[in-house]
Parts: sequence; structure tokens; C-alpha cells
Amino acid sequence: MKKEIDWANLGFGYMQTKSHIAYTWKDGKWNEGELVESPYLNIHIAATSLHYGQAAFEGLKAFTCKDGKVRVFRMEENAKRLQRSAERTFMPEVSTEMFNDAVQRVIADNKEFVPPYGTGGSLYIRPLLIGSGAEMGVKPSIEYTFIVMVMPVGPYYTNGLTPVKALIQDEYDRAAPQGVGDIKVAGNYAAGLYAQAKAKAKGYPIALYLDAKEHNYIDEFGTSNFVGIKADGTYVTPKSQSVLPSITNKSLQQIAEDLGYNVEVRPVAYSELGEFAEIGACGTAVVITLIESIDRNDDHIQVPTFNKETSVLSKLYNQIQAIQYGEVEDTHNWMTEVSL
Ligand SMILES: Cc1ncc(COP(=O)(O)O)c(C=O)c1O
Repeated sequence: MKKEIDWANLGFGYMQTKSHIAYTWKDGKWNEGELVESPYLNIHIAATSLHYGQAAFEGLKAFTCKDGKVRVFRMEENAKRLQRSAERTFMPEVSTEMFNDAVQRVIADNKEFVPPYGTGGSLYIRPLLIGSGAEMGVKPSIEYTFIVMVMPVGPYYTNGLTPVKALIQDEYDRAAPQGVGDIKVAGNYAAGLYAQAKAKAKGYPIALYLDAKEHNYIDEFGTSNFVGIKADGTYVTPKSQSVLPSITNKSLQQIAEDLGYNVEVRPVAYSELGEFAEIGACGTAVVITLIESIDRNDDHIQVPTFNKETSVLSKLYNQIQAIQYGEVEDTHNWMTEVSL
């Protein structure tokens, strides 16, 4: 039985589901994990995650496919990214097998919250790894908690892709060149809240960051990667050590290649922005957000008007969604079936 939810009008807000799954790491090993119905964690007041930001998370989605089966998109990639985040912040590894087990078990227990096929919705999956043991000094925790929670979410765009205005604010950086911008740690997002609020207050839904060292190259948007499409259809995305390797971006690059477009992963100079026929921001939550223009001080870069018929981003968007909803063949084995 599905829950009585207005699937077509779901947003991206928090919604209480039946349970989350929680594992504890103590004395050098993880326990078996258990499904917990209360949405509260009982955590020590001296936990390292609370004081020193020893926390990393992930975001991925499960879809009810056309054949009625529920499948998760590129789960292994998210597991690998969490492993890199854990290593860099000195937390124990969550193996790919344990990650998969956690995701499968929590979805099975919350199956009535997976949006049905045809509603445009999906089940957002949020794994979180934190230091939960008590320490007063700055050092790694002696205990860790890994949880996975799930939440039904709607399509961001009910009327197709709608372009938005982006802002570059030179007074704020997202990530230092040899810092932690390339992993998904909680502190990166706290550090971006102020700049995001400033951009919003000026009428810009999305902030774009330049490289912190020179402010000459494009890094990424606050929570999504930068993609530019040249007039000949070439897909260009920045190569930078302070950008989070987006799984959506990686997938769109593969789809672009499959469709016969060239893909370039290389430094993208700010001065090149005016040369793109299309610009998008890509990530799990929205898939692709079209960018209408980019402002930086007195500069205004206008992206050519979106044309649905010729848009490469639109084609890529449709193709990735078709793979996720099982409407076309999953030639790269990106989807993992959930045993319900
Ligand atoms: C900083 C940042 N960049 C890019 C992305 C997009 O990554 P993905 O496509 O794996 O969701 C995210 C979201 O996870 C992000 O937080």
C-alpha cells in the first residue's frame, strides 16, 4: 500500500518517513545496523561531529521504474565518494557492501514512501557518517554513527527546465585548492550558507564560485557542478581539485559521449563564459538547472535564449531521466534493483 501523499506536488522539504537505519562503529568495527522509527539520535554532547565537524554525507535517489521495480541510481559511486570523504576526515570506512545493505534495508522498510512511476517523483536517500564519541581535544572520535534516511521528493521542475540567474561574489570562496572541496563534508555547506543567503537577497537563486587561488577559473555552483555547452554541442566542465566530483556530471558526460558529443574536462576560464550556447548546474537533487545569465560586479553574461528543440542540455536531461525511470535500456549498469 502506498501512503496517501500528493505525489505530483512534492517539493524537496523534509518529510517524516517510517524509519531510518543506524549503525555504530565501536572497538574497531561496525555493528549489524538496525531500523529505527524515532527520527532522533541520542548523541554525546562532546561528539566530534558537533564540535569539530567530523561529518560527511551523501545524496542519491531511488526510482519506481516503468516495470514497477524500484531501482537506485549509481549507488556504488556514492559509496566510493563517502569512502573518500571518510578517509580525508579520519573516519572509518563504510564498505560498498555495507552501504548497499543499508540502502536496501531502509528502502524496503519505507517502500510505501517511494513515489509511483509517472508522478515525476523519487525517493531521496541521505546517508550520513558522523563522529559520535566524546572527545574534548581536536582528535578523531572513538565512536562513529552511520545512518541512512529516506524521503520522497518531487521533480524540481513541473513545467520543464526553467532558466535562473546566477551570481559570482568575489568576496566569498567555497573551497581552498588543497582543502576539502572535493569531498562531501558537512562544513563545506555551513561555509556556503552566508554567501547563498546574500545571493538570494539580491535576487539570484544560485551562486557560482571561482577558483579560490586566482579567481580566474570556474569552480562550481554552491551545490552543483558547472556544465557549459559550446555551439557545436561540445560538453565542457571544469577540471579543478576543489570541485566535488558530481555523479550526475559524470553520468551526463557519458550520455553526451553516447549521443556523439565531444566532452572536455579542463580548466574553464571566467573569460570563456560568454562563449557558451548553454550553461547548466547539475546535481542529484535537480538533475540540471539551466542558467539564464551570470553576473559578477558590473559584468553581465547573458546565455542565449533556451531553445527546447536544439538544446543539448535538454536532450541529456531527458536521457538521464529515461534511464532512471527504466524507459530506455540501462546500457552502463547504473541502476541497482532493490529487493522489496
Ligand atoms: C558542492 C556540490 N557539487 C556538486 C554536487 C552534485 O553532485 P551529485 O551529482 O553527485 O549529486 C553536489 C551535490 O551532491 C554538491 O553538494
